Amino acid sequence: MILLPERIYCRGIKNGKGYVINDFAKKLEAVISFLPPIPMIIIELLKALDDENSDMNSIARIIARDPSMSMNVLKVANSAFYRLPNKVATVDYAVKMLGVKEITMICVSCGAYQALKPPRGAETFSLDEFWKHSVATGVIAKKICQELSVGDKNIIYFGGLLHDVGKVVLDRYAHDIYRIVVQVTHEECLPMIDAEKRIIGESHDNIGGLIMEKWKFPWLLVDITKYHHNVGECPRESRPTVAVCALADQLARIRYFGFGGDMSGVVLTDTEAFKALAEIAPAIKDMDVFKFVCDLESVNDEILEMEKILNGG
Ligand SMILES: [Fe+2]
Ligand SMILES: [Fe+2]
Repeated sequence: MILLPERIYCRGIKNGKGYVINDFAKKLEAVISFLPPIPMIIIELLKALDDENSDMNSIARIIARDPSMSMNVLKVANSAFYRLPNKVATVDYAVKMLGVKEITMICVSCGAYQALKPPRGAETFSLDEFWKHSVATGVIAKKICQELSVGDKNIIYFGGLLHDVGKVVLDRYAHDIYRIVVQVTHEECLPMIDAEKRIIGESHDNIGGLIMEKWKFPWLLVDITKYHHNVGECPRESRPTVAVCALADQLARIRYFGFGGDMSGVVLTDTEAFKALAEIAPAIKDMDVFKFVCDLESVNDEILEMEKILNGG
């Protein structure tokens, strides 16, 4: 039996010194209120994306002000994932080739990734493996989206990339208790979300949704994060995209692409995501899911490359 610590240590975010809180509900409140702000450049980009007067040049100008973001955009634009015919050497050209929305989403993902990155060695689970799972979910989601013509193709990859972000938040800012969650998940072969609910009373999907809302991310990204374990409760307008990401999450776990937090087996056709998709896109019932899963081997390189870029490689 695993005993919960009487006092839970929470790393201080504002002063870096740390503090102790006994009541986990209060701690969760603190987690949310102390979460780091999203970098200014992302706020500007999201505003520009909403502004019908902004054009490719204004988006490129915002990105060009931040050298590390510019570098990330160029790396991602030149990655195997996009397979562009020519080398992309400038941010202007990257925006022209990939479009304003896609480029903004690259920046949003890189910004979230950097803002939440814990110090090396302080994490409970391997972050490399965690992000590999996230990238795999994004890559697979995009492939399902293309295969079935379901979901928002501009945002789906980035939804996959960020869907489990609540786990990183919990591990970073509620470290002691999350270590127990991971231990229980392994020892009892539970889905991670069940261990979270039992021990914390809250789960990474809700926490992830809260941070996305706090950061004022596009509503579709919020919904993917919030409902990827609960597609049935998702608002109707975002359900197709959320269902595709949720199915991709399952497939990434079945194929053992990285570490999704748990390795519990599932019958794909029994999942809420599959049932929701079968209603929206009946073609999925005729799809050879087994073959689709086997063919995913070919995405391995894309996953490794993207994971390396996000990790600052
Ligand atoms: Fe999840
Ligand atoms: Fe996941």
